[in-house]
Amino acid sequence: MDTFTSHRRVRLGRREKPAPLDLSHHYSAVTKRRMPSKIKEAYKFFQIPGILNMAGGLPNADFFPFDTLEAQAAKPERWTPSPNHPGETATSSTSSSDSAAATHIVVPKAADESDPSKKIDVTTVLQYGLAAGYPPLLSWVRQFTRENLQQDTPYKGGPDVVLTCGSTDGFSKTLDLLVDQWTEGVNDITDRPGLLCEPFVYTNILNQAQPHGVQVVTVKSNASGMAVKGPGGLEDVLANWDPSKGKRPHLMYTVTLGHNPTGIVLSVERKKEIYAVCSKYDVIIVEDEPYWYLQFPSAAVEEAKSRGLPPPTASTTPKSARSSGYPFLDSLTPSFLSLDTDGRVIRLDTFSKTVAPGCRLGWITAQPALVERFERINESTTQQPSGFVQGLISELVLGSNSSGSNTPNQRARSAFALLRSPRERAAFTGWDTSGWVRWLEGLRGTYERRVVRMCRTLDAGATLITTAPAPLSSRSDPDSEWAPLAVTKTPLYTFRWPRGGMFVWLRLHLETHPLWQAACPSSPQSPPLVLDGPALSAALMVWLTTKPFLVLVATGSMFSANDEVRQEDGWRYQRICFAAEEEGNVDLAAERFVEGVRRFWEVTDVEVVRKLLGELGPSGEVEALEEGVSSLGWYMGC
Ligand SMILES: Cc1ncc(COP(=O)(O)O)c(C=O)c1O
Repeated sequence: MDTFTSHRRVRLGRREKPAPLDLSHHYSAVTKRRMPSKIKEAYKFFQIPGILNMAGGLPNADFFPFDTLEAQAAKPERWTPSPNHPGETATSSTSSSDSAAATHIVVPKAADESDPSKKIDVTTVLQYGLAAGYPPLLSWVRQFTRENLQQDTPYKGGPDVVLTCGSTDGFSKTLDLLVDQWTEGVNDITDRPGLLCEPFVYTNILNQAQPHGVQVVTVKSNASGMAVKGPGGLEDVLANWDPSKGKRPHLMYTVTLGHNPTGIVLSVERKKEIYAVCSKYDVIIVEDEPYWYLQFPSAAVEEAKSRGLPPPTASTTPKSARSSGYPFLDSLTPSFLSLDTDGRVIRLDTFSKTVAPGCRLGWITAQPALVERFERINESTTQQPSGFVQGLISELVLGSNSSGSNTPNQRARSAFALLRSPRERAAFTGWDTSGWVRWLEGLRGTYERRVVRMCRTLDAGATLITTAPAPLSSRSDPDSEWAPLAVTKTPLYTFRWPRGGMFVWLRLHLETHPLWQAACPSSPQSPPLVLDGPALSAALMVWLTTKPFLVLVATGSMFSANDEVRQEDGWRYQRICFAAEEEGNVDLAAERFVEGVRRFWEVTDVEVVRKLLGELGPSGEVEALEEGVSSLGWYMGC
């Protein structure tokens, strides 16, 4: 039994929750050397009432050119939710008659509020601030995380949070925290850090990890997510690690709800198995969850209906011991954090898919010792997310939190209200947590309805049906003038309806294409190109961008974790995003895709494919798009 397992057993024998493990042996050399910023340490003294601050290099807030920050924002009821469980009706009310109306939010110049966690004003939010985040927003995120999202984390004291500039920033800081730079030819191979992930992975992670010299180590995955047992599964990779190839990986990256690109939702059972192996081999789990609220409870049922299959057996989401207070949040598959007895989970959240990517705002949830290190990293890198965004999001989710009707905040609201219609005046407030959850439910509803529509169209076009006169040998009466027809069904692609997220992950059956393995003459000097999987897959992507199809999808090779995956499997897949196009274009885009694929299978001239491949840039990607192309790949790297 290794040290980590024995620690855990001893602690779990007691009744009280165990303290999280000390994971400082995983810190990078840079992290170990990071000291608190002397200036940021002094910030707490800035808050002393009446203090005249001559210490900080702060510009005077009177000279900020913004007197208020204001926005017309959606009401939480703008979108109609979908049911939390198949066959139910939505728990929240559907959209009200004025759901399209906006609410008006105002961040005033100076709020008359002594509690920094309630004071939302231009004077503080546009000033230098705390590295952990703007106090009102940080305290709301902390409360939402600890009370509503991760109310059951099994270690003593529960997790803490720190704000980031989005999940990309969160992962970059995680690498800074845990990974020492490794350079080939300079450092010893046995020191090379490794990152465990699925064979198909959100591309940006690779772009972030590889320049640090990190070796990306893939773990076999199946339709239910990362495999634990069997050859190539997690246990096999870690137990049989060959140290001559690098250090045994101490870090895992995964997306468990609506995986990008595969759309898988990892079950709690699988999470428990993965967690146990990570605990045994002392691996830190980075759970990146931008799609957390987009879990589609109807997907399995609708998939069976669309395919004429028997209804699936109803699955129940394991319940937390303590309710979040919101049936919608309770209905989501629990996070790795709910199993995290050791404190080895670092979870990345973002406002990118729930508010807007341009916010560049998110947060990290982890055990407090790790959060403290992240704060130190924030201090000397981004310092804090943008004040404009922190101010507007604070106002949006916290609403009119300052008490009394004569506060500057209220006065600013009243002044504005005079100019607006009575209906808008009535809607003059922020959302609060219940409004935030209602917003999330509505988003899930809109995306779930889109995925159902798109997948039905994709199902209908998945097989090419052709008819031809049956061969003479198979006819019962060869002399009859009525030739019976032979029907051929050619599978073009197969897919599983996504259980969450924003993507459909299609497996193409290019081996059924008439030009599969055909020789394609290139230049007189070079040998002919063979139209294999990678060539046909690339040609199909370009073909779809031409008239009359005009759709852009992302190919699996873009998400392949390494060259081996790219060569063996990457070309078999295409990722289709059903989120980016306007509602009215979802059916059109799916229909054009289906038609484009079907017509591609009718191409029998190698010259057509050769020309399509000539359109690709040196990187193998489409360089210029025709006007009017609907993007189902959007953005390719996201
Ligand atoms: C899995 C995953 N992580 C992170 C991101 C980016 O998040 P952020 O905008 O917060 O950096 C994306 C965006 O597509 C994503 O799919």
